[in-house]
Amino acid sequence: MTTNDELFARAQRVIPGGVNSPVRAFRAVGGTPRFIQRGQGAYIWDAEGQRYIDYIGSWGPMILGHGHPAVVEAVQRALLDGFSFGAPTEREIELAEAIIALVPGCEMVRLVSSGTEAGMSALRLARGATGRTKFIKFEGCYHGHADPLLVKAGSGLATFGFPTSAGVPEDVVKHTLVLPYNDVAALEQAFDTHGSELACVMIEPIAGNMNFVRASPPFMTRLRELCTAHGALLVFDEVMSGFRVALGGAHSVYQQLIPGFKADVFVFGKVIGGGMPLAAFGASKSIMEQLAPLGPVYQAGTLSGNPVATACGLATLKEITKPGFFDALTARTQALVAGLEGAAREAGVPLVGDSQGGMFGFFFADELPQNYGVVMATDKERFNRFFHGMLQRGVYLAPALYEAGFVSAAHTADDVAATVQAALGAFKALRA
Ligand SMILES: Cc1ncc(COP(=O)(O)O)c(C=O)c1O
Repeated sequence: MTTNDELFARAQRVIPGGVNSPVRAFRAVGGTPRFIQRGQGAYIWDAEGQRYIDYIGSWGPMILGHGHPAVVEAVQRALLDGFSFGAPTEREIELAEAIIALVPGCEMVRLVSSGTEAGMSALRLARGATGRTKFIKFEGCYHGHADPLLVKAGSGLATFGFPTSAGVPEDVVKHTLVLPYNDVAALEQAFDTHGSELACVMIEPIAGNMNFVRASPPFMTRLRELCTAHGALLVFDEVMSGFRVALGGAHSVYQQLIPGFKADVFVFGKVIGGGMPLAAFGASKSIMEQLAPLGPVYQAGTLSGNPVATACGLATLKEITKPGFFDALTARTQALVAGLEGAAREAGVPLVGDSQGGMFGFFFADELPQNYGVVMATDKERFNRFFHGMLQRGVYLAPALYEAGFVSAAHTADDVAATVQAALGAFKALRA
């Protein structure tokens, strides 16, 4: 048997840090990443044959769990017809129609291969459609790693940010304004100063890249008002929350909370590909018709709308649109969060959690954080020890306190009970 340690040592010789995406490296929590051999339902198995209850689900896409039979069958059938043609296929239309049917206000979509590509293209579209350059993003929101989006907050309110990554020129990010999440005053000040120059505001409406933080309804209401008043587009990055927190994504959640609410541009990924490289961005017809070949905003992709990926995405969407799917997923996720809170209480550890649909978060704190600064001030050392305690007990959580968790339809009540039991042990160990 090859061990995780052996694989990690071998990987580090040929892949930077031994991983193809940084958070997989366990840098935040320490230790050796598990090399996954296979997954089935709610479980994954590592190279050493250890089974884990999986609450990462490939960082969101696996809403049905691993190896759902209807999805496997659809992918197998599609594969036999060919991997890629670089020409239009009927399934692309079907997937576009399926997405549009679930998101009111999104009248057309373009399919791409990753959330990064979708976010980058949505930003270009917003800039092209408005003829403006500057835009706002929020601290703690991740929109993929396109250069203008890899930006840290500046030192004061309504100042422009600076690059988060080497290799991103300051010139490229000088149009990116980074504001604290859920801060109405900062938003108003930014619009006062720059309103007429703003192409868009991009937001994770329910943020999953600073654990789990919701935009408050008053903040979202004011954001919509300011965007409308100043002619800036409101871009909902639903790569994580789309088709995950509800069938209509976070957009449908805010439509219920705020009468008449509507975003202008939508960014999707993860669930719509069901685990295959597939993402999308969309908007009203008039905005989307700015895209090439109809309009002046260029955007393209060799593998965009890939026939195997669209088959996987369509089969996944078909399952999640079945009656009762989200009710069951929501109840299971709520049971998990309530169970974790109860176990923490029993062990005398402060913990607070939240969830929407199949996405959840928890914090070693007394109150739910409202922004990135507060999330990062929660007890990281405790989180890291808890993470390893859970891993040892066969539960695979995201290896960083700033990541959301995901429950799939394959997680049973027994899986949740086993997780809560493991958590009780891990919480008690924290107090030892
Ligand atoms: C909200 C959000 N936007 C964009 C992205 C980037 O997507 P991808 O990793 O597919 O490039 C992510 C990835 O986690 C995300 O969570």
